[in-house]
Amino acid sequence: MGGGHQLDEHITIDVLAGDRDPEAERQELRRLLSDRPRQIPSHYFYDGTGSSLFDRITRLPEYYLTRTEAAILERNAARIVRRSGAHELVELGSGTSTKTRILLDAMAEAGTLQRYLPFDVSEPVVRDAIAALAARYPELGIHAVVGDFFLHLDQIPDRIQPGNRRLVLLIGSTIGNFEAPEATALIRRIAQTMQTGDSFLLGVDLVKDESVLHAAYNDTEGITARFNLNVLDVLNFRFGGDFSTCLFEHRAFYDRARERIEMRLVALRDQRVRLTGLDLELEIEAGEEILTEISCKYRREVVVDLLSAGGFELTDWLTDDDRLFGLALARRS
Ligand code: AVJ
Repeated sequence: MGGGHQLDEHITIDVLAGDRDPEAERQELRRLLSDRPRQIPSHYFYDGTGSSLFDRITRLPEYYLTRTEAAILERNAARIVRRSGAHELVELGSGTSTKTRILLDAMAEAGTLQRYLPFDVSEPVVRDAIAALAARYPELGIHAVVGDFFLHLDQIPDRIQPGNRRLVLLIGSTIGNFEAPEATALIRRIAQTMQTGDSFLLGVDLVKDESVLHAAYNDTEGITARFNLNVLDVLNFRFGGDFSTCLFEHRAFYDRARERIEMRLVALRDQRVRLTGLDLELEIEAGEEILTEISCKYRREVVVDLLSAGGFELTDWLTDDDRLFGLALARRS
C-alpha cells in the first residue's frame, strides 16, 4: 500500500497510484504508441492542466452532459437515497466531487450520511475535492483512495459498521471511456467490492442526434481541442518526449455504427518524435492519427445487459425530458 495519511480525525487518504509497475506502464505505452492506429490511454489526460481543462469543459454550453446529469440528480436525489438506504457513499472517478454534493445533501437530509469514499486517479484533484467537502460537511467521515480502476478497487476500505449499506457511484459517463469488454470487466469488479443489498448508480450519455454529440466534443471556444492536445505535454513531461502540440490538430467525430465519439490527434506534417523515458522514436506521417479517447453512447437495453453481466438488477431508469443522459439505479442481487 502507498501509505494512508490521516489528515485529521475525519479524513484519510490512501495513495496507491504509485504502486503501478513503472516498467509495465512504459512497455504498454510503447506498444500503444507504435500500434496502428497509434493510441494514448485517456487516463493521461488528467494532469493538473488537463483536469482544469476538463472542469472548464463541464461548464461549456455545448457540453450538456454534466449539467443534465446534475439536473437528473437534483430531481431524484431523495428517491435514490431512500431506495438505497445507504450510510456510505462510494464514488469511482470522483474528480472534483461537485455533483456528489447533491447526494450528500440528500443523505444528510435523510439523516443517514456517515461516510464518503472518493476514488480517483488524480491525487491533487482528490485533495482539493475532500478539503472543500470537509469544510462543507464538518461531521462527515471521508476516506479517499487515489488509485487505478483496474488495480486498486479491492483496496477500498471496509465499511465502518458491517451492516452499513453502500451506494456506489460511477457517474459522469466515465464508463463511456471503455471498450465493451473492459466496461463489462469493470462492472464485474465493482460488483465484487459490493454486498447484497448495496446499490449502484451508473451515469451514461445516451445515443442521440449526431449534431448534438458532435458539438459537445467540438466546442467553439476550442477548450476540448486544448484538452486533447494537452495529453502530448503530459507525455513530454512524464516520459521525456518532444511532441510539439502545434504539429497536431484536434479531431472528434461520432462513429454511428459503434455509437461512440472518438477523439484523435491528427499529425499536420511528417515528423519524428523522441520519448527518451520510453527509449522510443516515432516516425509519424502527415495525416496520421493518434486515438486518445473513446466516449461510448448508450441505450437503455445495453445498460441493462451491462448491469446484469455484473449481477445487478435495474431498479430505476432516470433521464431528463430530452433523453440526453441516463442514470441507472441498480441493486446487487
Ligand atoms: C470524463 C470521460 C466523461 O467522455 O465526455 C470530455 C471526457 N472528453 N470532452 C467524456 C471528455 C472530451 C468525458 N468523460
